[in-house]
Amino acid sequence: MIGNKMRDAINKQINNELYSAYLYLAMSAEAEIKGYKGTAQWFRVQFQEEMEHALKFKKYLLEQGAEVQLEAIAKPKIGFKSLLAMFEATLEHERFITDCIGKLMDLAVKEKDYATQILLQWYVTEQVEEEANDSEIIGMLKMAGSSTGALLMLDKQLGKRGAKG
Ligand code: FEO
Repeated sequence: MIGNKMRDAINKQINNELYSAYLYLAMSAEAEIKGYKGTAQWFRVQFQEEMEHALKFKKYLLEQGAEVQLEAIAKPKIGFKSLLAMFEATLEHERFITDCIGKLMDLAVKEKDYATQILLQWYVTEQVEEEANDSEIIGMLKMAGSSTGALLMLDKQLGKRGAKG
């Protein structure tokens, strides 16, 4: 059993993860309509990962006998002038999520909620990976600059990202 504060905070995080999924789905559609099919695929996979993050929290709450409360998901902010701007916004969003996970961990420590701390460790590791991936892509996009050829090659590379098993 987990405390009400922890339950409410995890429910809020389910909404954050669902917003992340929604944001990346919107980015995927935007990339596709602009002709960047590889980037669209990359964001589609990211969308699926975010759904898994939300479902993992939901499963945990149910296992703990706690109520799952789904709130409205905000409209994602899109409309980017370049792929670089899209990935910079992605990294910024992931930093926000990392901060949210950190705050959840602070609460779990304060409440001496060891089970939630163990669950959150997975998310802490995942955030390191996500930020590193985004930073790497931003670095490559900066190198590509305004070269259409380089951008298309990079887009093709991003399209190789498959759905995680
Ligand atoms: Fe669920 Fe991208 O963090």
